[in-house]
Amino acid sequence: MKGNLIVKNASEVVTCSGFSAKRGRQMSALGVIADGAVVIEQGKISRVGASAEVMAELNASGRDLSGFDTIDASGKSVLPGFVDSHTHLVFGGYRADEYAWRLKGDSYMDILQRGGGILSTVAATRRASREELTAAGLKRLDSMLAFGVTTVEGKSGYGLDRDTEIKQLEVMADLNRLHPLEVVPTFMGAHAAPPEYKGREDAYIDYLLKEVVPEVASRRLAEFCDVFCEKNVFSVEQSRRLLTKAAESGLRSKLHADEIVRLGGAELAAEIGAASADHLLNASDEGLYAMAAAGVAATLLPATAFSLREPYARGRFMIDAGCAVALATDCNPGSCFSESIPLVAALAALYMNLAPEEIVTALTLNGAAALGRAQVAGSLDPGKQGDVVVLEHPSYRFIPYHLGVSTVEKVIKGGTLVFDKLNPGGARC
Ligand code: NIG
Ligand code: FE
Repeated sequence: MKGNLIVKNASEVVTCSGFSAKRGRQMSALGVIADGAVVIEQGKISRVGASAEVMAELNASGRDLSGFDTIDASGKSVLPGFVDSHTHLVFGGYRADEYAWRLKGDSYMDILQRGGGILSTVAATRRASREELTAAGLKRLDSMLAFGVTTVEGKSGYGLDRDTEIKQLEVMADLNRLHPLEVVPTFMGAHAAPPEYKGREDAYIDYLLKEVVPEVASRRLAEFCDVFCEKNVFSVEQSRRLLTKAAESGLRSKLHADEIVRLGGAELAAEIGAASADHLLNASDEGLYAMAAAGVAATLLPATAFSLREPYARGRFMIDAGCAVALATDCNPGSCFSESIPLVAALAALYMNLAPEEIVTALTLNGAAALGRAQVAGSLDPGKQGDVVVLEHPSYRFIPYHLGVSTVEKVIKGGTLVFDKLNPGGARC
């Protein structure tokens, strides 16, 4: 029956148990059960434990187990589904030309200043129909699912006008109806000032607050509001004004913070109690300590630093400072065109000095917390969504170790098998 599933005999079940973000040293506590099992009933986790105990209990209960599908996970590791908590997955067109320019030495910000970069994707996204964006989004979600992602955040921000921002968010609602992966929508109208408002950023923030945020909030098209708080994009003052006003309409705050220049985005995130501050390549010590104290998730995007050839965010320092670190792909057509969880994991291990345990927490419970979903996703705790990945290897340690290669064999969403490497195309609700 759909949503009823037993996964048993796993070499390990990695529970990541918890209902809020794990900070600092807590990030290493994974809760590993040897020879483990997970039971999912009507889409929700009902029991996690040693296989022998769980199966003995089920058998002793006299229940008819014919209504359950069963997966024998012998020799395999079983974890919560990954939560990719920062992406820009709905976009028109591509920017392979720009990538080639960057290889020759052009900088990401120079291309944006010349009217390319984000603005080039804005032009393509304005031209694209809702159906075209949905079709492209579905393919991207398939690719993410194969990497073990069961919940993904998606940002608008390639419209920069009312109609196209709303169109992007409506596409995310369509994707939620059409695809098993859950998309958490974020409004990012403040991704850049559009050509119509070039040099008039304050007026553009006024426009967003007056013409777009009220509709986004009243139609519940987004849960979060994000801003590119960056030199020559939006200042700390402009970001503060937008985020505090949007929060009054019920949109929680996120920031692209201190990515290229140290502007004080981390400090602002702590001041306003943002759900997360993301990128943080150039965040100050004080800003990071303030984020740790305020419980703001630090969402790190190492594949973006890799793709831009920028120095990596100081993940090790952040965890040692007591931050809750999450890891995400930042999948977008410009700074990081990748859905690859294994690439993110490998870079976090090799260049941020995160331990495999910390990487797993950052990709599961802390990603869920950055999306306000730590109560329902991100760990294998009874009562949570039955979102599970089965690796083809016996240990979670293979995630960063198998360099850039996905070790995910099966993905289960709400108790239903939705991806199976051994039966491609066969498993799909
Ligand atoms: O997170 N830094 C700003 N925004 C995105 C990139 C968007 C784009 O280049 O299209 C990021 O890297
Ligand atoms: Fe981003």
